[in-house]
Amino acid sequence: MVNAALSMASAPIGAIPAGMSDKAAIPPSPSEDDYVRQVSAAEPPPLLSAIDPGALFADWLAEAVVKEPNDANAMALATVDEGGMPDVRMVLLKDAGPEGFVFYTNLGSAKGRQLAAGPKAALLFHWKSLRRQVRVRGQVTPVTPEEADAYFATRARPAQIGAWASEQSQPLPDRLALEKRIAEIGLKFGLGKVERPPHWSGFRVRPETIEFWRDRPFRLHERLVFVRAEGGWTTQRLYP
Ligand SMILES: Cc1cc2nc3c(=O)[nH]c(=O)nc-3n(C[C@H](O)[C@H](O)[C@H](O)COP(=O)(O)O)c2cc1C
Repeated sequence: MVNAALSMASAPIGAIPAGMSDKAAIPPSPSEDDYVRQVSAAEPPPLLSAIDPGALFADWLAEAVVKEPNDANAMALATVDEGGMPDVRMVLLKDAGPEGFVFYTNLGSAKGRQLAAGPKAALLFHWKSLRRQVRVRGQVTPVTPEEADAYFATRARPAQIGAWASEQSQPLPDRLALEKRIAEIGLKFGLGKVERPPHWSGFRVRPETIEFWRDRPFRLHERLVFVRAEGGWTTQRLYP
């Protein structure tokens, strides 16, 4: 990975680094026979027809928690930087309800600064074991300090200390520098309570649209989008 990054840095603009041009590692598309096996192995599920996206999301997340080997609550968070360049990274969903989807982070990180400058975001859940995705787009608001305190208090103590020690997204001279900061901050708090750092809190993405996508054979996938409307939601099916 480091080598790929180094070769990217030195490659002429527009050239594909050698390590990224090998197609052998990319799985081929399913054949017609693969699809026929898939269709005959399972009853087609009833079409998506929920009227409450919150309830449908809760059902899908509950299934994902059972099926996904790791981090069923992981979601990609897309933002844009000051130049309009999109940016995306994974974060963990920590609360979900009628008001939106909550995650926590360092407010001075790239995402924290991007959201302070432009409080809009998109989220993407992809549950590979279920072959499903959920897309969310909406306005972003900070969670209340009380909400952030309550969540921070549930984190393991080393993770609380880590939140103090990490200047997330800033250059790190070497790993030792981080470990030194962790040791210093650990000593400072001693056995006392670790307060939430002022630079660490959460954001809530209030969905304006939520799209549910479910894999169907022959790439004829099912898509159902909910759009926020006065007092509720409208729904629309989309071509795959
Ligand atoms: C599965 C997974 C979950 C993550 N969860 C979080 C999270 O909840 N909050 C967070 O700040 N970073 C999380 N990260 C790290 C981010 O993806 C990212 O590296 C970090 O937040 C810095 O992003 P930024 O420089 O765009 O702000 C997670 C990474 C992965 C792979």
